[in-house]
Amino acid sequence: MKLLEINNLHTYFETKRGLIKAVNGVTLSLEEGRTLGIVGESGSGKSQTAMSILKLFEKNQKIYEGEIKFMGKNISDSTAKEMSHIRGNDISMIFQEPMTSLNPIFTVNRQISEVLRLHQGMSKKEAEEQSIKMLESVKIANPQRVNKSYPFELSGGMRQRVMIAMALACKPKLLIADEPTTALDVTIQAQILRLMNDLKAETGTSIIFITHDLGVINQMADDVAVMYCGQVVETAPVDKIFQKSEYIHPYTEGLLTSIPRLDSDPKKRLDAIPGAVPHPLNLPKGCKFAPRCKYATDKCRNEEPELKAVSPDHNIRCFFPVKRGDK
Ligand SMILES: Nc1ncnc2c1ncn2[C@@H]1O[C@H](COP(=O)(O)OP(=O)(O)OP(=O)(O)O)[C@@H](O)[C@H]1O
Ligand code: SF4
Ligand SMILES: [Mg+2]
Repeated sequence: MKLLEINNLHTYFETKRGLIKAVNGVTLSLEEGRTLGIVGESGSGKSQTAMSILKLFEKNQKIYEGEIKFMGKNISDSTAKEMSHIRGNDISMIFQEPMTSLNPIFTVNRQISEVLRLHQGMSKKEAEEQSIKMLESVKIANPQRVNKSYPFELSGGMRQRVMIAMALACKPKLLIADEPTTALDVTIQAQILRLMNDLKAETGTSIIFITHDLGVINQMADDVAVMYCGQVVETAPVDKIFQKSEYIHPYTEGLLTSIPRLDSDPKKRLDAIPGAVPHPLNLPKGCKFAPRCKYATDKCRNEEPELKAVSPDHNIRCFFPVKRGDK
């Protein structure tokens, strides 16, 4: 069953210099119990897609078009009160930098307990006991002590584990993790990724995992949505993207070439996708990737391709998808 379905979503910022189309026609879906990886370079609209699901908007930001169906219900026009209920009970989010979500002046216990008391109606004592259990489940050593600590007393990796515990406290149906390990060193990053995979296996929570690293997608996700300039340019099961598909989007092909490998020449890697992401106020007229695409033609520069199925579970937004083994 589909847990989440986003159709042709447009979320813009109104600025003095013009409309910034941060999410510019996003279509994607997530099956229950699966992990969807969203990947793309900086500025491609990954975070703003997540913010749109939860309606965590700035004052000058709103949904202009499209729908977000969660458990079959369109939530794109939900009221603030309805959204607050969804955020507390159904969908949780973990951010890149835990200090932006943890409150520095309250202990860990106070912050996790608050979620439990508010959404599960627990007493103070029950919530404290459950908070310690949650810390155990995210494999924090000495959970009793950590429960009494303030965020500044913890390392980056521990704070991220506390964030995960907090996000899972309301037993969400969907967990959105936006670059949850980017700020951590490589060893801790690997531990947190393993932990998230274990928790998913235990709880069955569906996950949206946002990253700019296709290598992490390979490790974490069942399905992938590749984003560029506020649009989804390719969706498929992960194994199709990494090896099995007959066709691939030229941008995804570039991202795959730029996955760091021990045996690759670092200079070659940096050149994998030449040029830069266009400025959001100055997007190209046709295909948004045309200025950087080695396969671009006049048609690409003048017309915009739509996301189309190349096989039943594989969609590509490109007039001339690359045939693999055809280069
Ligand atoms: N507060 C804001 N006001 C105006 N534009 C914004 C704002 N926040 C983001 N944007 C724009 O929205 C677009 C999408 O940004 P978003 O943060 O979703 O990218 P991202 O894919 O998450 O990038 P990163 O990998 O750097 O986190 C970008 O062009 C960005 O400049
Ligand atoms: S539509 Fe054209 S420019 Fe765009 S990705 Fe495909 S080949 Fe490249
Ligand atoms: Mg982001």
